[in-house]
Amino acid sequence: MKTNILITGGAGNIGSSLVRKLSANDKYQIIIVDNLSTSSEDKIPASVHNNILFINADCNNYQEIAKVFYQFSFDYVFHFAAVVGVNRTQENPLNVLNDIKGVEYILELSKTAKIKKFFYSSSSEVYGEPVEIPQKEHSTPLNSRIPYAVVKNVGECYCRSYYQEYQLSHTIFRFFNTYGPYQTTDFVIPKFLVAALKNEPITIYGDGNQSRTFTYIDDNVDTMIKILENNLINNDIINIGNDEMISVLELARSIIQITKSKSQIVFLPPLKEGDMTRRMPDNTKMKTILQHPLITLEKGIQKLLKSKEFLSLNGLN
Ligand SMILES: NC(=O)c1ccc[n+]([C@@H]2O[C@H](COP(=O)([O-])OP(=O)(O)OC[C@H]3O[C@@H](n4cnc5c(N)ncnc54)[C@H](O)[C@@H]3O)[C@@H](O)[C@H]2O)c1
Repeated sequence: MKTNILITGGAGNIGSSLVRKLSANDKYQIIIVDNLSTSSEDKIPASVHNNILFINADCNNYQEIAKVFYQFSFDYVFHFAAVVGVNRTQENPLNVLNDIKGVEYILELSKTAKIKKFFYSSSSEVYGEPVEIPQKEHSTPLNSRIPYAVVKNVGECYCRSYYQEYQLSHTIFRFFNTYGPYQTTDFVIPKFLVAALKNEPITIYGDGNQSRTFTYIDDNVDTMIKILENNLINNDIINIGNDEMISVLELARSIIQITKSKSQIVFLPPLKEGDMTRRMPDNTKMKTILQHPLITLEKGIQKLLKSKEFLSLNGLN
């Protein structure tokens, strides 16, 4: 018997990469639900084992998502669909808050369907402007202020509450900035890389001294699959992120150097909110699960430059 897995947001950056890897194993039957609001069907991998099914539906619409649950008997649910991206989330706060409905509907349907486990994509944004470095899952106080961070915080709270009241098991992934071939240019690495390859200006908000860590998608996906297959991090939270810290300015300079670009760096006024000064996970749990060193930023950028998918999605070949 196949293991049925629902992946919402499965046409997106992280979701489609998870689908790609899981579907290589023919014991899994994968159902993708995505409304293609920020992605396209191109990102959905071709199915080698005929074990991927795509459904265009909105997770925040009860009728649409309930229909999917009535059609299949899911063992596991990964809820990744969300409004993402700093500019998009700041310009559409009500749209962002609407995602709380999706979390509630999918948890309720998952409980009724008696699935084995619910996986939730939270974010490092729950730490807000962090009060300490690195950020630890249980001891760093959460400082969620912007709607996107508040939604993720509420989502985590829903997971814990469904466990407390209905014993619905969960794992909460607090993703830190994760990049890969399928990420859009709304995000910093693809944005800088595409600009550099076209010798166009690279724009930075503020002075560029805000620091970040960047996780290559393979490390993220490998950790999630190990958690799924070994039944780890039950009813608990895990930071999924690299701990190699770099400032946005250093990132721009290093992308210019790696690509031998003629791009100029242009500084824009700082964002009003949401551009945290520092961000770095305590990734002890992730390293223990992954059991190999994380991919360095330089290697990850080289991988993107060699990725046919990344180049073709961005019109670079
Ligand atoms: N990539 C990161 O660095 C990062 C960091 C922290 C958290 N996250 C979280 O991880 C998850 C996946 O992120 P991603 O980078 O793959 O983003 P993404 O934008 O590439 O993917 C999100 C997908 O969800 C779909 N979607 C959005 N709203 C929907 C809805 N109501 N119904 C159905 N589909 C919908 C979009 O069309 C898109 O395909 C998100 O929940 C995001 O908040 C990502």
